[in-house]
Amino acid sequence: MANDFNPLEQHDLVYQVPCGGSMRGDIRVPGDKSISHRSIMLGSLADGVTTVEGFLEGEDSLCTLQAFRDMGVRIERPDTGRVVIHGVGMYGLKAPANPLYLGNSGTSMRLLSGLLAGQSFSSVLTGDSSLSKRPMKRVADPLKRMGANLALQEGGLCPIHITPAPLQGIDYAMPMASAQVKSCLLLAAIYANGETRLTEPAPCRDHTERMLQGFGYELKVSGNEIRINGGGKLRAGQIDVPADISSAAFFLVAASICPGAELTLRHVGINPTRIGVINILRAMGADIRTVREYVAGGEPVADLHVRYAPLRGIAIDESQVPLAIDEFPALFIAAACADGMTILSGAEELRVKESDRIQTMADGLAVLGVKHSVKPDGIVIEGVGQGKKLGAGTIHSHGDHRIAMSFTMASLRASGPLTILDCNNVATSFPGFAELVQRCGIPLGQQNGQV
Ligand code: S3P
Repeated sequence: MANDFNPLEQHDLVYQVPCGGSMRGDIRVPGDKSISHRSIMLGSLADGVTTVEGFLEGEDSLCTLQAFRDMGVRIERPDTGRVVIHGVGMYGLKAPANPLYLGNSGTSMRLLSGLLAGQSFSSVLTGDSSLSKRPMKRVADPLKRMGANLALQEGGLCPIHITPAPLQGIDYAMPMASAQVKSCLLLAAIYANGETRLTEPAPCRDHTERMLQGFGYELKVSGNEIRINGGGKLRAGQIDVPADISSAAFFLVAASICPGAELTLRHVGINPTRIGVINILRAMGADIRTVREYVAGGEPVADLHVRYAPLRGIAIDESQVPLAIDEFPALFIAAACADGMTILSGAEELRVKESDRIQTMADGLAVLGVKHSVKPDGIVIEGVGQGKKLGAGTIHSHGDHRIAMSFTMASLRASGPLTILDCNNVATSFPGFAELVQRCGIPLGQQNGQV
């Protein structure tokens, strides 16, 4: 059975957020989570020393880092955001002495399951109570088709037990647009015999493809198809991790809904497979300007300038869903403040994130008096409109970092204080969130309490 209790897990951090805050400043949010995970994985498998700048020191990416230390990789952290990885080469990982504990991190578990399926040793992957409820068959099924020997728990859940087996390249049409599934299979494919061909139903984040190429591993991308051969090598290098657009998203929404707000966000990753949040907010009328655009470490980056603007509800284009997949909790807050109806469809994936993000957000919106109707694959939100306030009250984040941060921003339009429960997991993706929010004008208080 899935492990439902981990003594390391804490659920008692409460945010007390008064209404009437402001949103002004010039800030840089922490490093991109997806790129940070991948930098550790590929840096560990490379020949030579990889230096990473701007690494996200959040619990999720630190779980990945610890997993590779547990497999014998020397990884130094000389300064905040700086990581030095002494790569062991494609076949240099060592069997971990214990199960690898991956906390709350779906990315660690899904990508590692592919990477470890190709190793010559056995391993076990475990996670916290949230991760232990998330679907793993989506990676296990295609990996088994490659010849992998892995066993899930009843219901397709973790812990995942992996034992060595030779892998064979496959031709696989992915049933959902998932970068975690795609990346898992790419990391298995580099250990497989022959060619693997993956087809994605819609574009989703391509950091693995970019970073593999940056490390000198050849792969071919044409349209929605990726082809890669096993047996190659990775060459160590330098990685500059941009600020995470998924963390910037809370501030983009905050400034957009708060009259008088004006904010500059520095060095934000604007990879085209990640900018759904900017596209959707702009379609709603947001005033977001790209100030300076450049390339850092193979990824497009920009400084963004955002000011308050009256938002209007829209029907969100379904093609934007994979490009904004982590940003919907924040976007729901924008929709709650907009004039008119926002309609989201084709987003059933939100139900299997760190929480069921459609239901958890709907429950919080209900507390704030925002009219909405939940659909199996989305939600319809009736915004309160320009100049109007949201309600106030106590909201349960269900341990989902992005829910906690989204409702923190809702305080800017609330009519009274918000109490947000179970906020410990904000540390998985956004260390220093509370301090940064305070600096920008929200007098957020934190206390330990009972959930
Ligand atoms: C991620 C991919 C996305 C995203 C997750 C990080 C990644 O998941 O929700 O937070 O780093 O590959 P899916 O690919 O399952 O949609």
